[in-house]
Amino acid sequence: MPATVVKFPATDLRMSAENVLRGNDNGGYTVPSRATYPHQWNWDSALAALGWAELDPSRAWRELETLAGARDRQGMIPHIAFHTRVPDRLNGRLRGALTTVARTYARYLPGPRWWGRRLAYDGRRISGITQPPVAATCMRILFEGHPDEARARALLTPLLGWHRFLLEERDPRGTGEPVLIHPWESGRDNAVEWDAPLWRVLPEVTVVHRRDTHSVDAAERPSDEHYRRFLTLVRRGTRVDWAQSRLARGGAFRVLDPGFSAILARACADLGWLAEELGEGRIAEESRAASARVADALRARADSDGLIRAVDMTDETTLEVTSAGSALALLAPGLGSEHMEAVRDLVTTGVLASPYGVRSLDREHPERSARNYWRGPVWSNVTWLCALALEDHGDRVAAAKMRFRMMEAIEGGGMREYFVPDSGRGLG
Ligand code: DGY
Repeated sequence: MPATVVKFPATDLRMSAENVLRGNDNGGYTVPSRATYPHQWNWDSALAALGWAELDPSRAWRELETLAGARDRQGMIPHIAFHTRVPDRLNGRLRGALTTVARTYARYLPGPRWWGRRLAYDGRRISGITQPPVAATCMRILFEGHPDEARARALLTPLLGWHRFLLEERDPRGTGEPVLIHPWESGRDNAVEWDAPLWRVLPEVTVVHRRDTHSVDAAERPSDEHYRRFLTLVRRGTRVDWAQSRLARGGAFRVLDPGFSAILARACADLGWLAEELGEGRIAEESRAASARVADALRARADSDGLIRAVDMTDETTLEVTSAGSALALLAPGLGSEHMEAVRDLVTTGVLASPYGVRSLDREHPERSARNYWRGPVWSNVTWLCALALEDHGDRVAAAKMRFRMMEAIEGGGMREYFVPDSGRGLG
């Protein structure tokens, strides 16, 4: 443990986790960060529900309800639901104060105007892309600890609708896995495997007024070259009014991500379990079949080393990078022992192993960077999901090891998003 790292006792740790949740509570949802991410982000919010479950189960259910309220007309739950409105009927000082708050929200790029006039079921402005569908898995964990049948039942149909969207609109060629149309959909924004498909996108947005680097060191964030392309893809999607299956069939950026697909396979299985508990046989059956279909598609494309990697759908080539996506693939139910052993070795002693959790990129990759976002650092969400996957596949010892490492990172590096893989220093 380096000298700069301070260890917190467990009670302090619990208190600082609680402070982060309460400090980032926007009423019905939790923002990932007041400065950098001041709206509701899809997978961050679903995971925050598990934090709320420890403090206030009703608030945890509310988190999932506001997330489901962000769904669009096709059932997709977007990656961001924006906090935008300052009610017109308010006057004077209150309106002035709220307008100042609204300006804080306006600091995020790309804000709501970039995405066209996209409205959620609950009236909020939303983005046109999605994020890893962990919500049903979080709902199952919440239900197991704090069952609330009425609230769980009301969430079944919105979550089923989102999973259907992914398996229908986003799988125009019937591969069994959803096509991602923007690197942000993977949740691993600037992962090295996206460089090759992303560099084929000719930047139309050339001047970028970054806001994220005002609150986080640029060395810990994606580059301007990434941002030009991220924003170009947003502009192009808005130009075609986010015609989802068209973008999945012929958009400029199209990939299969084993991490996203496996999260979906596990989410469908969890939704099936919940539906069974609630006596909703048809949803249970459909969800179980969907889970098996995604898991079969993943299993069929395992490499000779037992790992599953990303695919560039523009030319159907495998993207030869070993990253957190291959580790997350273990979340798919029913993958065989060969796959399980390959991932266990990868994250416990192999090229993704770190004393602080699961590295986002192969430690021997020439592009690795200890501090740069998804190009090397350890992320606690990924480490936690890998522990869950190892437990699902029966390896409690490896799962406990992952959780221990994750706690080491947080105890030493603080309540941070990501950590330097060799020192545990907190980042982001
Ligand atoms: C970002 O980083 O701004 C994207 O929305 C991905 O979360």
